Amino acid sequence: MKKLVTAVVASGLLVFPISCATKQTAEIPPEKEKQIVQIGSSATKKLLKTLKGELIKGLKKGPVNAVDVCSKKALELTKQVEKELDRGIEIKRTSLRYRNPKNAPDIYEREALEYFEKFEKEKKPLPKYYLQKVEKNGKVYYRFYKPLKVLPVCLTCHGKLQDMDPKLQTKLLKLYPGDQAINYEEGDFRGVVRVSIPEDALR
Ligand code: HEC
Repeated sequence: MKKLVTAVVASGLLVFPISCATKQTAEIPPEKEKQIVQIGSSATKKLLKTLKGELIKGLKKGPVNAVDVCSKKALELTKQVEKELDRGIEIKRTSLRYRNPKNAPDIYEREALEYFEKFEKEKKPLPKYYLQKVEKNGKVYYRFYKPLKVLPVCLTCHGKLQDMDPKLQTKLLKLYPGDQAINYEEGDFRGVVRVSIPEDALR
């Protein structure tokens, strides 16, 4: 797959002072790319497996209960997975249409999300992943992005409002007044898992 390192978006420099976070446009060498993809994919699988397990457990007692579980535990479980990954690796889920403001994208994440969104708009299959090289406070980090699609089970809580259980609607509205993560259809691009890997975590 072609290396997908892109230029820094000019607007980013307005948001962050250059010293705090700049993105390099250099290419990622293939041997590094291989390791980044390997670490990124396995971290993504670990997170999704953990969250799915909790979701299925929660759904057994109905969607309202599952939302309760999700809202209380998703970030906590993500932190836990991060701790297990160790080596300074960070992991997060984010989306252009997020539900939880704590999952809002930063400028680099936004760029990656827009990259996938372009394929979605053109009705082309989504690339398997996207990579970035980011420099923060003089340290180099590689970012791996895995796109997530809407599966039938996701529609319970991210589908059309009118199809939703009214109790679930009320609950979501109460927990997330600015919720943007609704009205999705099966197969839509939902967001990404983002894995950040410090350069020194690579061999
Ligand atoms: C039981 C309801 C429920 C189901 C089913 C569900 N979600 Fe969510 N989802 C939530 C809630 C609540 C949040 C916000 C809490 C959090 O994760 O921080 C959320 C957050 C997310 C986020 C993080 C970005 C954001 O919007 O805050 C992604 C990505 C996501 N869901 C994708 C999915 C996908 C893909 C599926 C299907 C595999 C799915 N969800 C199924 C309730 C649900």
